[in-house]
Amino acid sequence: MADLRAHRHRLPATAAAVTTAVALVFSLLPGMTAHATGVIGPLRAPGEPAFIAAHRGDRASAPENTVAAFEAAVSGGSDFLEADVRRTADGRAVVIHDATVDRTTNGSGAVAALTLDEIRSLDAGSWYAPGFAGEPVPLFEEFLDVLVVADVPALVELKGEWSADEVASIMDGIYFRGVQNLIVFASFSPRTVTALRDAAPTIPRVLIRRVLPLDPVRVAKRYDAVALMTRASALQKSPDAVARMHDAGLGVLLYTLNSEQRWGEALAYGVDGIVTDKPSALDAWIAQTAPGT
Ligand code: G3P
Ligand code: CA
Repeated sequence: MADLRAHRHRLPATAAAVTTAVALVFSLLPGMTAHATGVIGPLRAPGEPAFIAAHRGDRASAPENTVAAFEAAVSGGSDFLEADVRRTADGRAVVIHDATVDRTTNGSGAVAALTLDEIRSLDAGSWYAPGFAGEPVPLFEEFLDVLVVADVPALVELKGEWSADEVASIMDGIYFRGVQNLIVFASFSPRTVTALRDAAPTIPRVLIRRVLPLDPVRVAKRYDAVALMTRASALQKSPDAVARMHDAGLGVLLYTLNSEQRWGEALAYGVDGIVTDKPSALDAWIAQTAPGT
């Protein structure tokens, strides 16, 4: 694999202005909407293999949401990378799951209260293993660089509440690198999904629900989402939800499934994607249970 770190760079101001204009033109074109069958592929039938999304990278072999974890997931054959994105106090997007840096770095405090420089001075690898000492919290742009080099799509989860202006601020980096066709946005927040629709209408969106709504199709359509992402327990309570969503041309993704039993149940439902902490193991399991795919 090429050296992903060699591609890390900041967006020059002039290029940022150009890409802002390009993004604006895209956002103003009428009738341009995102479709489920684009980046996530054809909707699956029961028994067909779902795509594999490496949850926060390959957490089984590297510290979550670091470039090392994303590179490991790419090497392990993941179909998708899943990453969590938050904003710093000075408005920069960084890849980190928790609202605070306490669990996954050697620092403390809320991501939203720390500047980018403060967050970049932290060690996001030592807590996991000494061999990862000095691994930084990635800039969102560094995560995008992984996609450029690997040509792998990503489920980009925006954590918390994002406004349309805040969403627009990260679109420059996406268009500048030409990875707009590799991105699927996701969020638990209906407000954020609405902001995504307004600021990035051509990038597919996924609404995450811990519990499925009574009418999942209506909810997905209300937010113009190409899919809902939910938990296995939610599908057990609504076993016909996948068929209803598929009949409407909408996808269903499940998080976070880490056992062969759960993977088997997910494929039996015909879900389209599985988010897992064990992407290499799921890849091997799918190769064994559905050879030739
Ligand atoms: O991909 C969905 C899943 O990542 C949502 O849960 O808390 O791991 O971000 P969480
Ligand atoms: Ca996530």
